[in-house]
Amino acid sequence: MNSQTWMSLSEKYVAHTYNRYSLVLVKGKGTRVWDVEGKEYLDFVSGLAVCNLGHCHPRVVKAIQAQAETLIHVSNFFYITPQIELASLLCKHSFADKVFFCNSGAEANEGAIKLARKYAREKMQGDRYEIITMERSFHGRTLATLTATGQEKFHKGYAPLVPGFKYVPFDDVDAVRKAIDGKTCAILIEPIQGEGGVNCPSEGYLKSLREICDESGILLIFDEVQVGMGRTGKLFAYEHYDMEPDILTLAKSLAGGVPIGAFLTREKVVEAFKPGDHASTFGGNPLATAAGVAAVSAILEEGMLENCEKVGEHFLARLEEMKKKFPFVQTVRGKGLILGMELKMDGGNIVKEMMQRGFLINCTMGNVLRFLPPLIVTKQEVDQLIEALEDVLQRVQ
Ligand SMILES: Cc1ncc(COP(=O)(O)O)c(C=O)c1O
Repeated sequence: MNSQTWMSLSEKYVAHTYNRYSLVLVKGKGTRVWDVEGKEYLDFVSGLAVCNLGHCHPRVVKAIQAQAETLIHVSNFFYITPQIELASLLCKHSFADKVFFCNSGAEANEGAIKLARKYAREKMQGDRYEIITMERSFHGRTLATLTATGQEKFHKGYAPLVPGFKYVPFDDVDAVRKAIDGKTCAILIEPIQGEGGVNCPSEGYLKSLREICDESGILLIFDEVQVGMGRTGKLFAYEHYDMEPDILTLAKSLAGGVPIGAFLTREKVVEAFKPGDHASTFGGNPLATAAGVAAVSAILEEGMLENCEKVGEHFLARLEEMKKKFPFVQTVRGKGLILGMELKMDGGNIVKEMMQRGFLINCTMGNVLRFLPPLIVTKQEVDQLIEALEDVLQRVQ
């Protein structure tokens, strides 16, 4: 079947909740994907920061094959060996003592929100349940996580929202201080905002949040669903900022493309959850966690963090050169291989033009071109993209 036939069938049978590009992708390898007609694309979207290892990484493929032949699923009533391995790997390489597994970023944040409330009820004075989140944040599409998301466009039509969230501007320490009161139990923040336009914190901001949380005895939750797993050049983004959160959420790339979510935390926090307080049927299932062990090991052992840092610096420098050439480029920003180029106009057509030239990129907030290539991308591939992008931008001037 050709693209047209697949797209017609999709329109007929699949709920129309996505505005899709006219592209049917059927194959991926490393930094490349192919459509049903065989056209090749360099992928700077990576399934929205899911395929950090590149498509179909051999270690992940092998782990999935081996686990699928052995044990695909058992209930969390029983001990699950790859789940134990993945949890110990994550704890070994982070601040955390314990991991809870689930299936998506929203579910990881939902769990973190529940844990913060439960912890507050058990360990804090008074009735504390409110969570401070940031304007322009994105935390997921379940009712609690979309309420946590500080962007009104995601709230429309879903009232009444979940009570207990308060929004403050990102990167504003005083606003956080002012927002904390006797009801606050936690701050939830993406260390770098992804969907909100690749917004990076100023020097010292995240460390100040840590201090504020310590002073007020509230929890600091980092949503690293998009920026975790090596995306910024370190396994976890918090490692750049000389501080540690109390809870950290992950999903997307944690299992190299297999659906998974998790939150990592300390013993003293997670002990607020007793058996039966929180659960997920598929959470930490053998197939997903076996893929996770392979994915995390590959990120750590195959030089991906080093490549991300090195190629990310080159990429940012090339984007900065472009900013000087095109007056409608407002800013370029990011860390490692999550990079954004803010335009003074809509970026939708640029994404389509790039696609025609064989490059997948994304646009968020309407005017921020976002680049999320696999962490194995080369300088040469970045240069190819820059050349194509310059050509496209020249035409739109
Ligand atoms: C920072 C962040 N948190 C949470 C989510 C939600 O993750 P999921 O779509 O897996 O529920 C996303 C998705 O883009 C995200 O970028």
